Amino acid sequence: MQYYVAQSLDGYIADDRDGLDWLLSFGFEAFQASYDRFFAGVGAIVMGAATLRFLTASGEPWPYPDLPTWVLTHRPLPVIEGADLRPVADDPARVAAEARAAAGDRAVWVVGGGATAAQFADLGELDELLVTVMPVTLGRGARLLPTTGGPLAWRLEGSTVFENGAVELRYSRATD
Ligand SMILES: NC(=O)c1ccc[n+]([C@@H]2O[C@H](COP(=O)([O-])OP(=O)(O)OC[C@H]3O[C@@H](n4cnc5c(N)ncnc54)[C@H](OP(=O)(O)O)[C@@H]3O)[C@@H](O)[C@H]2O)c1
Repeated sequence: MQYYVAQSLDGYIADDRDGLDWLLSFGFEAFQASYDRFFAGVGAIVMGAATLRFLTASGEPWPYPDLPTWVLTHRPLPVIEGADLRPVADDPARVAAEARAAAGDRAVWVVGGGATAAQFADLGELDELLVTVMPVTLGRGARLLPTTGGPLAWRLEGSTVFENGAVELRYSRATD
């Protein structure tokens, strides 16, 4: 499972109002080719309820058509045109197993947020961390990966520097 995400320089993925204006202000053009390469390898999607709320609030068409999407939530899900949503409560291990099986040879993208990704990391299910660090500090907000099970070591596999000052860092879990 891969957590592909953008964060501020000080480790937040959303501001303290769940906003992403600080990220969206950079535009998407610089990241398009990198995103397209990543997305071509994705076979299933996982996210938390707050991230789903953010995506639906935008009013944009569903961005992941044809991809089975597991949503960790305690609430009923909205019906979204073109989305294949599968709600699961309190069982991230089941989500990991089902999403991996559905993805086959392709990757499971943990879209976020941090609260959701951290549960997979604590279970040992997060294989890769692909973080684009934006050149902005926020001071407070939603954290990248608020794990509770102690430190996790990661091995740097590669990086890409963008002209706008952002840096994509690609890590895999260090198992030894
Ligand atoms: N910068 C980026 O690239 C990026 C990427 C993704 C998200 N984001 C932003 O991050 C923010 C959300 O992040 P977040 O970490 O606060 O929230 P999140 O992980 O998206 O969602 C958390 C919510 O999911 C539900 N949930 C989580 N684990 C669960 C479980 N085991 N069982 C049942 N329900 C569970 C709960 O909602 P209920 O109990 O209410 O159902 C919980 O409040 C949003 O603003 C989003 O836009 C940013």
